[in-house]
Amino acid sequence: MTISKRAFGTLCDGTQVSCWTLTNENGMMAEVLDYGVTIRSIIVPDKNGNPVDVVLGYDTLEEYVSDDCYLGATIGRFANRIKGSSFELNGKTYELFANNGANHLHGGKRGFNGYVWDVAQAGDALVFSRVSADGEEGYPGNLTIRVTVGWKANSLSIAYEAETDQDTIVNFTNHSYFNLNGAGNGTVNQHMMEIKADSYTLNGEDCTPTGEIIPVVGSAMDFRTMKPIGQDADNDEPCVKPFDGYDSNFVISGHPIATTVGDQTGITMITDTDQPGVQLYTANAMTERKGKDGKDYGFRSAFCLETQHYPDSIHHLQWPTCILRAGETFRSFTTYTFL
Ligand code: BGC
Repeated sequence: MTISKRAFGTLCDGTQVSCWTLTNENGMMAEVLDYGVTIRSIIVPDKNGNPVDVVLGYDTLEEYVSDDCYLGATIGRFANRIKGSSFELNGKTYELFANNGANHLHGGKRGFNGYVWDVAQAGDALVFSRVSADGEEGYPGNLTIRVTVGWKANSLSIAYEAETDQDTIVNFTNHSYFNLNGAGNGTVNQHMMEIKADSYTLNGEDCTPTGEIIPVVGSAMDFRTMKPIGQDADNDEPCVKPFDGYDSNFVISGHPIATTVGDQTGITMITDTDQPGVQLYTANAMTERKGKDGKDYGFRSAFCLETQHYPDSIHHLQWPTCILRAGETFRSFTTYTFL
């Protein structure tokens, strides 16, 4: 396991951004920017032993700053949507920034992805940390958060830890866009995927949950047996049609939560987490653009498996709680294992 660091760019306020490279004992490599704790690349061998970069990313810092897709970024304070951009906690109403129609998405105007984090090396891993101040984006409480990234054998592990001095809400995820055939190498429609979920949270047309939990059986959301990602993505069903593909939260019912195989490379990724939900998003809103090394990215050119609390769970108190109480420590993890 080796860790190295290089300069990646400078923000307009003069802050230097670094790109950290973590290489495991089998030569698998991950690059992480301290800007947004952003995974820029993950390079793993294909079935013939050739290295393949399986996540989408950009060549320059400027492209990350102006990115509208959260490529590879750490999302907080609250991943996914909060309906109506406000919530009530302990009898007080908190107003958030509406950046997705009337709703709040991925932490708001300047989410955790828009900050340069402190970095410390801890053994084989990197610990990225920052304090999200009381009132940042409208959320209560000074929140101290640490995101630890490292390889454990062939698993890239992301662990989140947070404490607050006032009751608040949290939902952290990583927004990597995977293409196991190689970033920029076509769509992921033919990737094979299995998700261990018997049900999902039904979304309304604004992509926020209605509150209903629906069995996946007989719907496009049924990934209990491996199938091509694109097989049912264009069905005329309320779980895919309004979103031009997958953009919904699965209620996890087994572990590891998902297995995905690149049909051309044979690269297999096994995803696991201790979180109750995972959003499958198939880059439906990604407009055509150039990515790393001038490669073409666009509609369906990747999939995201965003491990999370159920979206908008502060408005559905019967669901696993997203409330972090003052003095408590929140902990969660996500692992991506490559075979
Ligand atoms: C959301 C999508 C959104 C995408 C990029 C996903 O997590 O669920 O609706 O378009 O992130 O912002």
